[in-house]
Amino acid sequence: MSDTLTIIDNRTGRKYEVPITNDTIRAMDLRQIKVKEEDFGLLSYDPAFMNTASCKSTITFIDGDAGILRYRGYPVEQLAEKSNYLETAYLILYGQLPTQKQFDDWSRGITYHTLIHENIKKLMDGFHYDAHPMGMLISTVAALSTFYKEGKDIHNADWRRKQTYRLIGKLPTIAAFAFRHSVGQRYVYPDNELSYTANFMSMLWKMTEGNYEAHPVLAKALDVLFILHADHEQNCSANAMRSVGSSHVDPYSALAAAAAALYGPLHGGANEQVLRMLDQIGSKDRVPAFITQVKAGQGRLMGFGHRVYKNYDPRAKVIKRLADEVFEVTGRNPKLDIALELERIALEDEYFVSRKLYPNVDFYSGLIYQAMGFPPEMFPVLFSIPRAVGWIAQWEEMLLDPEQKIARPRQIYLGPDKRDYVMMSKRK
Ligand code: CMC
Repeated sequence: MSDTLTIIDNRTGRKYEVPITNDTIRAMDLRQIKVKEEDFGLLSYDPAFMNTASCKSTITFIDGDAGILRYRGYPVEQLAEKSNYLETAYLILYGQLPTQKQFDDWSRGITYHTLIHENIKKLMDGFHYDAHPMGMLISTVAALSTFYKEGKDIHNADWRRKQTYRLIGKLPTIAAFAFRHSVGQRYVYPDNELSYTANFMSMLWKMTEGNYEAHPVLAKALDVLFILHADHEQNCSANAMRSVGSSHVDPYSALAAAAAALYGPLHGGANEQVLRMLDQIGSKDRVPAFITQVKAGQGRLMGFGHRVYKNYDPRAKVIKRLADEVFEVTGRNPKLDIALELERIALEDEYFVSRKLYPNVDFYSGLIYQAMGFPPEMFPVLFSIPRAVGWIAQWEEMLLDPEQKIARPRQIYLGPDKRDYVMMSKRK
């Protein structure tokens, strides 16, 4: 058996043999297939990248049919149980779990880069009182590029690491400042004595007390949620990070683009939409009517379905368990009953079963975030903080991959043929 694909072009009767590697053919191997010598050559057409690999990657593995998610080979469930976000972030970026020394250096690097320039604070002050915190985060991250000009030196590994510390260190600060701005409270500066999530919670919720003490169960839950959101291979925002980064722009600008992609309701904005949907349904007894509407094509069941998972999202399983621990502390989110009823009905309904639509990561995460005190506008922000590490890892992998170039898809032009300009006075 040879690892090749034979293609017969029925337009010409010519036969081509193209290599198969990793169950993949190279789209460029199709280019030789032509009718006339002057032809451009055969293209593959794949809107939304349904069946096109845009890169080789060693970061995250997903088996959507089996409901498997692994970072660098480690099952996400094990990491959620045994690791912490900063350790997982190291793993995602550098491919191995850190030694104690590596972890200490890494944590220190991030902790010492949590402060933001006072002018960034002023920039954030300029937003309208009801600005969406995700819009604030996207713009502020883009603005970081004007403060750290050496970020443009993307081919220098040491500089890349420095920008990585800055991005992972400053994102919680920017996110917390965006939140405090929206509620009209003074900004709280980072505290180096606290863990990554406890520090974030202090910046969010510290009032007049000397030290804010995050509830350990909630700080741990946030840390687990961060682990679960850290990377998800070639999703819309990772693809944006790679695509924009392929122009060799600085990582702040590329990450702002990735965050913008995440903002959309079909991606990281979905958990915000889940809460709005649960509010709109209002009570458990109205769930069947809502399901009927969705099946009739009036809206989607937000938090359900996934491009890759055609099985229960493994992250959703962990989050569902986590919800119980969080609700022990915060009290039960009353919307949980509506969510459970939606899930129960949807998982039995032929419409959802035949389309393999299962709860995804966003179905329960919003309920936890809300119970912890976050308004829905903060949900995509909470997704961006941990996903930054995935974006940076994808970006570095792209930069170091000798096969990658500036991302530039082809198109099938179906517009008018050449026509001559007509003066306005002569147009009908
Ligand atoms: N509710 C009702 N029907 C749905 C849903 C849903 N949530 N998702 C997909 N479908 C239907 C869709 O109408 C289509 O039916 P038909 O074949 O009759 O036209 C079929 O299922 C396939 O849908 P699709 O739109 O072709 O699937 P996709 O792979 O392009 O979309 C998705 C994936 C996540 C965008 C979609 O499932 C969706 O819109 N879900 C709701 C939004 C959501 O929860 N997004 C979060 C994704 S997980 C977090 C992240 O990665 O950011």
